[in-house]
Amino acid sequence: MTKRTIAVCVICGVFGVTGVVLLANGCAPSRPELVKVASIPDGEYDPAEWGKAYPLEYESWAKTKEPRPTGKSKYKPGLDTDKIVYDKLSEFPFMALLFHGWGFGVEYNEPQGHWYMRIDQDIIDQSRTKAGGVCLNCKSPYMDALVKEHGPGFYSMPWQEAVAKIPAKHKDLGAACIDCHDNRTMDLKINRAAFSKGLAKLGKKEFTRQEMRTLVCAQCHVTYNVPKDQNMKSLGVDHPYDGSTWGTITIENIIAVIKRTPAYKEWTQAVTGLKVGFLRHPEFEFFTRASVHWNAGLSCADCHMPYQKAGANKISNHNLMSPLKDDLRACVKCHPQGAERLKRQVIETQDRTVSLLLRAGYGTATAAKLIELANAAPRQGKTVDQGLYAQAVDFYLEALYRVIFIGAENSLGFHNPMEAGRILGDAIAFSAKSEALLRQLLAAAGVTVPANIMLDLTKYINNRGTHRKNFRKEFEFADPFGIQERILPRAARGI
Ligand code: HEC
Ligand code: HEC
Ligand code: HEC
Ligand code: HEC
Repeated sequence: MTKRTIAVCVICGVFGVTGVVLLANGCAPSRPELVKVASIPDGEYDPAEWGKAYPLEYESWAKTKEPRPTGKSKYKPGLDTDKIVYDKLSEFPFMALLFHGWGFGVEYNEPQGHWYMRIDQDIIDQSRTKAGGVCLNCKSPYMDALVKEHGPGFYSMPWQEAVAKIPAKHKDLGAACIDCHDNRTMDLKINRAAFSKGLAKLGKKEFTRQEMRTLVCAQCHVTYNVPKDQNMKSLGVDHPYDGSTWGTITIENIIAVIKRTPAYKEWTQAVTGLKVGFLRHPEFEFFTRASVHWNAGLSCADCHMPYQKAGANKISNHNLMSPLKDDLRACVKCHPQGAERLKRQVIETQDRTVSLLLRAGYGTATAAKLIELANAAPRQGKTVDQGLYAQAVDFYLEALYRVIFIGAENSLGFHNPMEAGRILGDAIAFSAKSEALLRQLLAAAGVTVPANIMLDLTKYINNRGTHRKNFRKEFEFADPFGIQERILPRAARGI
């Protein structure tokens, strides 16, 4: 019974050369005008209540519960109709070695629909929720209210206890209307204090509507650190943006911040014994770093929430998913070349990224095994050059953080293809330099190092956690260009 007038999408111009219909900078599709049929009280979390005023968006939002079509996306299977849970450590086995020592090395799955974000935390190996209440930051709309109610101790509250503080009716509720909207105006709004604090570091205070169509997503689709006290208790959520500005959050700055902040060293990498930080799903940082689409004025919503018909009306699709699984409906609004060709272009970009990621990942894993050897040398009475060792470790960390960054970014390079190539190229160079220095110091110490370093992946990838997860060969992404096996023979991987 909702009545509204629908405005037509404003298209600002046409790019002759590429044939791209262009949205000029800051010119978002005009928004369907709303006729409110009910008012939403302040502090209303229940999407069903919002749904009384906006039934079409509510219905579309609730569809994030539905499985996605199988086989449409090459690299981002999620909760698809095949009902298989896709294991990232089997897709990229080097990650099992690098993340060995904490939750991400035990169980790490491909993302699925927004409906499941809170529920998935109960299902996953509980080593992943060890950080405590802080894990609710990107999962429950109640996060800030809970911190207000229970004080900063909520961040480190044992996980089960923290979840029990969410009102029972909404214990399993993921991203809700109130996460992205103002209840009175329906304008887009940021609901996470942690992200507002991060944004403040970028030195920009006013945001256009088009920028907000990215920022509501960036509340969660960003990298962050969980600072720890001396007892490794979680103190909150920080974004490593010091030294960065709007549109230039560089990987270099992010790494520099993590390296110089002891509180961000959240875990100890088992193979190397190093205390290190982590990077999470950096969609916002990666996309806004001068990507072609960001420079052309696009937002996350342009590709993930295209306008669609709902009965006689037109709404923003609230069933957020991979554009490939949605038959590239969002893309063809601007790109006349057609869905099939665009899909090929997406996959070609991802193939190249995957090839480089394998090179960088296995190069870094190789350096990690050499650090393990160097750490063992003194116990065998051998002397290791500490200066060279420190340099090798430093280069190793530069490679490791870049590999984690691109591995955690959810588009396999598509959001910013050139930047993916640049970051992985540097990761390969840093890991190669680290390997060279480690070989040199090991040789000088009298340790014999074989041409191919054995990675022993079986040790890290099988029998993981309470679910006893094993390597699933059918999930593995092989190098689409066959280069990786020439550099590191399969036999050396140990799976
Ligand atoms: C993850 C963030 C997010 C969530 C959650 C969300 N929305 Fe939206 N919503 C958006 C964005 C982005 C737009 C586009 C706004 C614009 O272009 O200004 C939008 C637009 C709308 C509009 C304007 C009309 C339209 O369709 O474009 C309505 C009404 C709306 N949402 C209702 C809801 C309701 C009801 C819920 C909960 C059931 C909800 N939204 C949940 C992000 C969200
Ligand atoms: C409150 C935090 C939060 C917000 C806000 C949010 N996301 Fe998500 N998003 C998540 C989490 C967490 C997952 C993974 C859920 C899981 O696997 O259980 C996810 C998954 C996804 C997926 C994968 C869906 C699938 O079917 O596999 C897409 C695409 C996505 N988000 C895009 C967006 C976009 C675009 C926006 C902004 C309009 C947005 N998200 C806003 C937290 C959020
Ligand atoms: C120009 C279009 C475009 C823009 C803009 C865009 N994305 Fe994407 N996104 C894609 C494509 C294409 C993929 C790859 C999907 C695949 O491989 O199945 C993707 C993948 C994803 C995924 C993984 C989906 C899955 O099924 O696992 C998430 C999450 C995501 N994007 C979030 C975002 C966020 C957040 C933003 C803004 C910071 C954003 N995207 C901006 C096109 C876009
Ligand atoms: C709102 C309009 C718009 C939408 C939606 C859009 N694009 Fe684009 N796309 C552009 C513009 C503008 C350019 C830049 C053209 C130029 O500068 O030559 C571009 C460039 C590209 C390029 C070449 C540059 C690169 O980064 O590789 C590809 C490929 C591409 N788009 C694919 C997609 C896909 C796939 C989707 C959907 C997931 C999509 N686009 C959605 C407007 C859009």
